[in-house]
Amino acid sequence: MSNKIFIGSPADFPAGKAKVVNANGTSIVVNHVDDKFYAVENRCAHLGFPLGTNRVEGTEIACPVHGSRYDMRTGENLDWVVGIAGSKLPDWSRKLLAMGRKPAPLKTFPVLSENGQLFIEM
Ligand code: FES
Repeated sequence: MSNKIFIGSPADFPAGKAKVVNANGTSIVVNHVDDKFYAVENRCAHLGFPLGTNRVEGTEIACPVHGSRYDMRTGENLDWVVGIAGSKLPDWSRKLLAMGRKPAPLKTFPVLSENGQLFIEM
């Protein structure tokens, strides 16, 4: 059974400025792009580090640790383990850094707008 968690009003999420919210103990990055709201778990699919909001551009979010990039609309992985703290690595060391983990998507959540309020469906 799904659960609707209130996260605020649309005014709490200005366009182009991602924000981290806590929904029932789950940390979630919410982003507002082109009148749509997107929500992904604030947890990189590589090693589970928080994604935060510093590396959100449009509907893309990148992990601050090894640079994996994801599409916030679908959770799809766009690039897997790019480097360390912003510096790119050659392919062979990217494979090492991936530690045997295969590219994986982020968990996404629907954002519902009802009566001027936003909810995350979990
Ligand atoms: S923890 Fe995010 S890419 Fe490694």
